[in-house]
Amino acid sequence: MSEFDPRSELFELVRAFRIRLEWLGRAGAFSVPAGPSPRGQRSDDAQFTAVAEQSQGRFEPTDPQTTPAESPGATTDRQPGMFSAALARALGDTPAGSESSPATMPSPPAGPTSRTALAQIRADLGDCQRCKLSRTRENIVFGIGDPNAALMFVGEAPGRQEDRSGVPFVGPAGQLLDRMIAAMGWSRETVYIANVLKCRPPNNRDPEPDEIASCRPFLAQQIGSVKPRMIVTLGRPAAHLLLDTRAPMHALRGRFHSYEGIKVMPTFHPAYLLRNPEHKRKTWNDLQQVMAEFERLAISPPGRPR
Ligand code: URA
Ligand code: URA
Repeated sequence: MSEFDPRSELFELVRAFRIRLEWLGRAGAFSVPAGPSPRGQRSDDAQFTAVAEQSQGRFEPTDPQTTPAESPGATTDRQPGMFSAALARALGDTPAGSESSPATMPSPPAGPTSRTALAQIRADLGDCQRCKLSRTRENIVFGIGDPNAALMFVGEAPGRQEDRSGVPFVGPAGQLLDRMIAAMGWSRETVYIANVLKCRPPNNRDPEPDEIASCRPFLAQQIGSVKPRMIVTLGRPAAHLLLDTRAPMHALRGRFHSYEGIKVMPTFHPAYLLRNPEHKRKTWNDLQQVMAEFERLAISPPGRPR
């Protein structure tokens, strides 16, 4: 953990609070006017435009770190360069927060059934005391996004910022995840994001088996309710849980697996990528496979006509 920095701490809190407010707004609690982006961040629209421009192939990656060397032709035959520059940029070493997008785009109207079903699952979870993490958590971090999303991300467990805000992936790893999602042409509002554990393990230690056992029915119900076409698991615990395996990450990532008939692409966790940037290229390759599969299924990211 880096040293305490009150300014970035405050920035993170404001960002997390804003995301929560906007989520409540979208959920119908009240209306939240779209405010200026903190720290001069670009709006989603500007970010979308930038990503779209780059994905026309006008911009090619030059950084050898981010050049798609692995599995050449695996996914990019049909549209060479499609999104690759944007993905490279997303996974590149841009300063934290400089490109992350605050949640400002209204989500498409969700089918009432999925929204209601998710609300019911959240209600069943209640003020959960099913495992020992309830004694140390501040907030339950349930999940966020489009209740009918075609694309779902499953992480590990809330960290400090998530525990404080109740929103998944709002800390540094979340900012990298936001950039990955944006570069794929999607957004935090058009995907669904959840974790294996809904409560933060003390000091971000690994989830323990009893905690996973207590929490897994809720993730299973979330997946069953959202019914995504594809799931990207982030890091080992999510891959191990959904694929019912103990195989190492390097043996799992890079190809599709299946969970209850849903295609699953395991890849590295963004927090792991922040510590091991040399693996970003592999993650980029994994995400490109997901994009290619959506193309094959003729599914385009909502708000982005084919
Ligand atoms: N890491 C995760 O796995 N999930 C979060 O929500 C945040 C960080
Ligand atoms: N181990 C993990 O838990 N996550 C990764 O992404 C890689 C190794």
